[in-house]
Amino acid sequence: MKLPVHRWLRYSAGYSAAWAEAVIRQASLNGPVTVLDPFVGSGTTMLAAQDAGAASYGIEAHPFVAHVAQAKIYRHTDVAEFQAFAEQVEAKAKSITASIDHYPKLIKSCYDDETLGQIDALRRAFELLKDNTPASELTWLLLVSILRKVSHANTAQWQYVLPSKSKKRVTSPIVAFAEGISTFAKDMNASVNLGPEPILIQGDARTCEGVPSGSVNLVVTSPPYPNNYDYADATRLEMSFMGDITGWGDLQNTVRRFLVRSCSQHVPPKSVDLETILADPILAPIHDEIAEVCRDLAEIRLTKGGKKTYHLMVACYFLDMAHVWNSLRRVCASPSQICFVIGDSAPYGIYVPVIQWFEKLALAAGFTSARFEQTRERNVKWKNRKHRVPLCEGRLWVEG
Ligand SMILES: C[S@@+](CC[C@H](N)C(=O)[O-])C[C@H]1O[C@@H](n2cnc3c(N)ncnc32)[C@H](O)[C@@H]1O
Repeated sequence: MKLPVHRWLRYSAGYSAAWAEAVIRQASLNGPVTVLDPFVGSGTTMLAAQDAGAASYGIEAHPFVAHVAQAKIYRHTDVAEFQAFAEQVEAKAKSITASIDHYPKLIKSCYDDETLGQIDALRRAFELLKDNTPASELTWLLLVSILRKVSHANTAQWQYVLPSKSKKRVTSPIVAFAEGISTFAKDMNASVNLGPEPILIQGDARTCEGVPSGSVNLVVTSPPYPNNYDYADATRLEMSFMGDITGWGDLQNTVRRFLVRSCSQHVPPKSVDLETILADPILAPIHDEIAEVCRDLAEIRLTKGGKKTYHLMVACYFLDMAHVWNSLRRVCASPSQICFVIGDSAPYGIYVPVIQWFEKLALAAGFTSARFEQTRERNVKWKNRKHRVPLCEGRLWVEG
């Protein structure tokens, strides 16, 4: 991740800002474009829209991730004010006596006492000085962006933290914070303000509340895949350090309950009734196929040690996404263009035809055409894989 601003915090973006900007520029050749990303994450699409001169809305349900996206929108604010604020935090931290006893276990296992003392002092200095100005919000982002760099713990393939695995090179907090100030300032200086300020909504893609009806004509997004990735857990390190949560158990209430149900942690056994979900009329376009897949998953789980509730996850995921398609129809003018960067999945080796089902749900919601452009194959190198179902990823283009 080398692009200015986008590089400030690593997050599973789904696609590059350069690609999103190219899509938006191409669409703009036919007239003014208003973009929506209903799963905007750390803000890639909104920043790309602004760089392409287009107005945009972004919706993000994860409170911490929405905070990151909002801070990035401040990239065009006064650089000198940001630098002065961050340097004040840096200076104040030097006079603060650290106190590390209260940190949760995860944090203690990710930092030695000296490092934790230094980042604690930075956090306390920030807490004393914060004032909700753009400079303050950018400094918050800077602070959370150094947390993984200064930890000896490794992060797993998708950003979960592995305290038991260590990295070879670790940067000291003082150096990381100072380097961060220069990187942020450099990127802010380099970014030219080309379009209207994006509108970020900390909300729910299932309703698109806050986006006026018929106001959008281009949707570019990468929704969660039904592949058991836990977006709540992805920011556990940062949220634990900042005091937003005390441990894994808090993630359900502070984050997961707001999100599309794409991992089994969303749906503990008996938390929902499968037959009731499947009978929802909004799933009628895919009813017979999804019912078969969910029943197969309900059976196969009984043969597996973890007994994961993928049967409930798949049903709830498509119920949630059917609502997303209906809400997109409400906010999209006619005609509009939609691009979903999406992949299929195969929990417990049972194939879930995500792309075909999305096509059906999109057409049932009132869009008129759907076309899939495959960009890569997945799960084709069998080594270390849990199952041998070939999968793919690509762009689902919907119009109407
Ligand atoms: C693949 S990521 C998108 C990443 C994004 N392209 C970026 O640049 O960071 C999917 C995002 O959808 C968010 N999400 C999940 N459920 C949501 C919901 N109901 N409404 C809005 N956002 C949601 C997750 O928190 C996650 O950040």
